[in-house]
Amino acid sequence: MRSKRFLAVCVALMAAVGLIAKESEPLHVIPYPQSVEMQKGSFKARGAQFNCDPSVDPFSQRAIRGFAIQLSKISGKTSSFATPIGIAKTVQNGTAKGFAFYGDPSLKSGEYRINVGKKAVTVAASDRYGFLYAIQTIKQMLPVEIYGSKPASDKVKWNLPAVIIKDAPRFGYRGAHLDCCRHFFSVAEVKKYLDVMAMYKLNRFHWHLTEDQGWRIELKRYPELTEIGAFRNGTMIGKDWESNDGVRYGGYYTQDQIRDIIAYADELGITVIPEIDLPGHMVAALATYPELGCGTGPYEVRTTWGIAKQVLNVGKEETMVFLENVLDEVADLFPSEYFHIGGDECPKDEWKNSPECQAKIKELGLKDDEHGTAEQHLQNYVTYRMQKFLEKKGKKIIGWDEILEGKLEPGATVMSWRGAKGGIQAAQAGFDVIMTPNSHCYLDYYQAEDKIHEPLAIGGYLPIEKVYELEPTDQIAPENQHHVLGAQANLWTEYIPTPQQLEYMLLPRLLALSEVAWCQPEVKNFERFKQTVISHEFPILKSLGYSYCLQIEK
Ligand code: ACM
Repeated sequence: MRSKRFLAVCVALMAAVGLIAKESEPLHVIPYPQSVEMQKGSFKARGAQFNCDPSVDPFSQRAIRGFAIQLSKISGKTSSFATPIGIAKTVQNGTAKGFAFYGDPSLKSGEYRINVGKKAVTVAASDRYGFLYAIQTIKQMLPVEIYGSKPASDKVKWNLPAVIIKDAPRFGYRGAHLDCCRHFFSVAEVKKYLDVMAMYKLNRFHWHLTEDQGWRIELKRYPELTEIGAFRNGTMIGKDWESNDGVRYGGYYTQDQIRDIIAYADELGITVIPEIDLPGHMVAALATYPELGCGTGPYEVRTTWGIAKQVLNVGKEETMVFLENVLDEVADLFPSEYFHIGGDECPKDEWKNSPECQAKIKELGLKDDEHGTAEQHLQNYVTYRMQKFLEKKGKKIIGWDEILEGKLEPGATVMSWRGAKGGIQAAQAGFDVIMTPNSHCYLDYYQAEDKIHEPLAIGGYLPIEKVYELEPTDQIAPENQHHVLGAQANLWTEYIPTPQQLEYMLLPRLLALSEVAWCQPEVKNFERFKQTVISHEFPILKSLGYSYCLQIEK
């Protein structure tokens, strides 16, 4: 009796210090897969052969080979990569050994299956996204050392728990946005942002490239936009709107750098969606070409934050041609089928007083009506003209939810940011929507209540639990829920001057957004998520050199 009790105490102690794995323990994977059936036993990954069916596409083969190389380097034993024919057959008849990757056309885009047995890990997908996501899942199941750059210690056990995983994304659009205008982030920093997106299976990078405070994209047709518009004569200090540090600030991405980032993102399974914010948020362009304004200059690239009253004079045909030329060149750079045309926060004061805008309103027969003011209808005219222009180039537009004011034409996608109401209204009216309500998705808000000890932020309070709570289809009738393409985290950078602070605001809240966009509602579980973030994701992020907020531990 005594020895039995002693044994029980020993087992409990061993379990507590993690010496024996619990079969029922959930996987340390974020976003958590749709179906996980734990099995008995484990697979020894160190030195295991990687076999990939030759019919698997070259992109996936590259990613699989890259994984084999990383595992070899870190585990200290070579995992060779080969492409013998008939991998699916070996899986079917149970003779597969090592890692076995093969195509299964019955799976949807992004869907994958992983079966970890004692002798083999079989991985099936129908396209490159499925294989990429499967690799991310396996990496998260391995010891944290797999993310390192140096060989790990001999003590690391390279075992994968036996398990059957069936997984697929809930939403096709799983986004993260970055404002590179209020503060500028280098190509290397943008790539690091993309890396962490890919780890958590996010697949749309919304790149905010133009603003009142800086124009960040090189255009061959308008080189002055970056010669003049990419630099400001100082930045306000903290929240003192009257101040200016007097330090010239700026930067922009050349077209070669942009192509490089697009290609880098593509390799990670991420589509880059450019945003040219119009017809407001255009002071940097107005400082470059004052003739496109409503005559309220002189203009200078803004040194303070907030909403500018100075907007484009869209009553002038010259301005519309400028916009079309800009969109033409930007659209040619980005292969994405979506193009974000902004549309937010465009005050109408200047249009009310502009003879050209009023003449245009008259010419188009626009009037105040139950949908909106004549000036809001004038913005609809701009939106629709850009929409038609981009349509001819094979692109669809996304706009912030202000584009709904007045009358929006079919075919536009609405990005709901002033809460979810714009998205709900748009989906009910038959428009596609992307949910990014500031109540749940604005990662520039404080993440801890104790603001004194946090870096200065724009305001608000958005703890990680609240991000996790978002249900993108909430209050949308079942028959309209298919209009919800997905969700996105937004990172505005007025108060984020450094890459370290950028990562701190992003992480780990981005991981919560990843489960919002990937997981079916019944799979979400904040307690499981929290434990995984603390025990597994923080060490991964640390080894990769990311900064992150520890608030979730409190
Ligand atoms: C926005 O936050 N102005 C879209």
